[in-house]
Amino acid sequence: MRLKNLLLAAALSGASSVMAQDYTLKVKATKPGAPVQSTMYGIFFEDINFAADGGLYAELVKNRSFEFQPDALMGWKAFGKVTIQNDGPFERNPHYARLSSAGHGDWWTGLQNEGFFGIGLHEGAKYRFSVWARVPDGKEQKLRVQLIDQNTMEERQDFESKDLTISSREWKKYTLTLTSNRTIAKANLRLFLCDPNGRSGSGTVDVEHVSLFPVDTWMGHENGMRRDLAQALYDMKPGVFRFPGGCIVESATLETRYQWKNSVGPVENRPLNKNRWESTFTHRYYPDYFQTYGLGFFEYFQLSEELGAEPLPILNVGMACQYQNWNDESAHAPATEEGLREYIDDCIDLIEFANGPVDSKWGKVRAEMGHPAPFNLKFLGIGNEQWDDFYFKRVKIVADAVRKAHPEIKIVGTSGPDAEGGAFDRGWRAMKEQKVDLVDEHYYRPIDWFKNEWTRYDRYDRKGPKVFAGEYACHDRGKKWNHSGATIYEAAFMTGLERNADIVHMATYAPLFAHVEGWQWRPDAIWFDNLYSAKTTSYHVQALFSANRGTHVLPLENSNFPAKGEDGVLASAVWDQHKQEYIVKVANTLPEARSVSIVLQGVSRLGQTTATTLDLSRYDADNTPAQPTLITPVSHTLHPTGGVINLTVPGKNFMVIQARK
Ligand code: AHR
Repeated sequence: MRLKNLLLAAALSGASSVMAQDYTLKVKATKPGAPVQSTMYGIFFEDINFAADGGLYAELVKNRSFEFQPDALMGWKAFGKVTIQNDGPFERNPHYARLSSAGHGDWWTGLQNEGFFGIGLHEGAKYRFSVWARVPDGKEQKLRVQLIDQNTMEERQDFESKDLTISSREWKKYTLTLTSNRTIAKANLRLFLCDPNGRSGSGTVDVEHVSLFPVDTWMGHENGMRRDLAQALYDMKPGVFRFPGGCIVESATLETRYQWKNSVGPVENRPLNKNRWESTFTHRYYPDYFQTYGLGFFEYFQLSEELGAEPLPILNVGMACQYQNWNDESAHAPATEEGLREYIDDCIDLIEFANGPVDSKWGKVRAEMGHPAPFNLKFLGIGNEQWDDFYFKRVKIVADAVRKAHPEIKIVGTSGPDAEGGAFDRGWRAMKEQKVDLVDEHYYRPIDWFKNEWTRYDRYDRKGPKVFAGEYACHDRGKKWNHSGATIYEAAFMTGLERNADIVHMATYAPLFAHVEGWQWRPDAIWFDNLYSAKTTSYHVQALFSANRGTHVLPLENSNFPAKGEDGVLASAVWDQHKQEYIVKVANTLPEARSVSIVLQGVSRLGQTTATTLDLSRYDADNTPAQPTLITPVSHTLHPTGGVINLTVPGKNFMVIQARK
């Protein structure tokens, strides 16, 4: 303790130059090395843990189109006389609800929606209700639309109520705005069929695509994203945005794979799909987990643009999930050009949807959706997490065809789910033969794995494809929830990604989002409930790396680089030519503080210098929606001496030091 204080005092006084330190980090400050790609740090989005419907996608009504299976009224409580019909106005979502007279003046017909784990509303906020409706017999009726608290002890359950007059025999979209007078996590939406005079309805109203959105979405888009969650993505300053997964790309069957063409065009007519994560884990089972594709490929490209991130779509290579089908070749599309035609077309058409002129087939769809300018797609992943011959023979056919049509697009292949071993090596060999531009590696691994991999990328072939660390997270030793004890290893490991930025061109922590009541997989970067969200310490590490990405790697020599499997101080350095700043990232995985001397070689004087510290020393602690700011980065000023920065890095702390030239 006394030593620590002494060192801290020395650091703050700036009294010494290079003292006897535990660690000396010699940075070749005047010799910038490889460029750090703008895509270096980014986000991985998959509709797992209710990340899309019920999460980022701001729709508050569950099963808005009455298409959930096997029960078209899942998420709804029906009362009075409600029947489900299947000849509705949207051919790919044909079901709708018919509300008819309950048979007595005191009996009511209607529907009540429970939302996703309830409907979260904020006091004073406005919500856009919309419904497609008609009166098939031409007899005018009303729909009373209410926000209710089913569990209140107040006199009234409804705290907002408005009427809509439905007068047309033809299907029409009706809208109104509701205002919530309270903040409530688990409201319901209730619709009553009424006569024009407001008494229980004696006619019939058909309703379809019943929707409720906050007016205040991210960027105000009507079919928009939940503001706090999109803002958290923006704050992360992602350079690349991978979408839509993940195993959701494949699903258990090819029929239920993610099909991007189903996710564009009018939102009412995007066909519902089973969510692959509904049934993957029987110990976390969600019978009501479907994909509406409301957050589809248009919204994805638009959000990428708004976040300033390069989109990286991952498309299906003609394969269902290998985990769920093992060696069953018949689960996949035939490995011939003919058999894979649909998958090849999906890739080529997606490029046209993103980049094609407005008079091309898919460019026109994009323009009609409101974005005539191209999205400038540059990357395409072919296959998510596939391995061995099943994959190699298919990716060759699909990638060759895509390259032929679009040589300008960089292709991302995969080395499969393992981070080492036979299948991984075979994967890399095949990807090299295939000459893909980047290889997507996945590692959800315990602390010991991370400690054994400090130098993972130092030993990679510099001449082959570049690395995309496409899914990774430290899962500790069996502990699966977010906690600081694991996060410090992510930070330390990431210094190795950065030191090797000549070959590591992208890295995306995974998964991104989790609803506290609807998760299947943890840890995750951002947790949320119906009202609030929390950036975990893993998120903060990602954001600190990304915001301080720099433009060029600075070679760094660590006097005491920890051996394989050992704890210690790990570091990386970059130069930012725009900000004219040296940036050094230091992670101390040891429980005790260590003194560190950063020597910026060739630099005689430094300008403003700050350290931003993330304290990860409380092993079990992390941020939650209930305590979102328990652990956040804290900045303070440093006082270097010449080009030397002496400091103490407390145990289990991650620090980013920014020094102006
Ligand atoms: O991120 C969760 C899952 O992990 C992804 O869907 C899959 O690619 C990996 O196995």
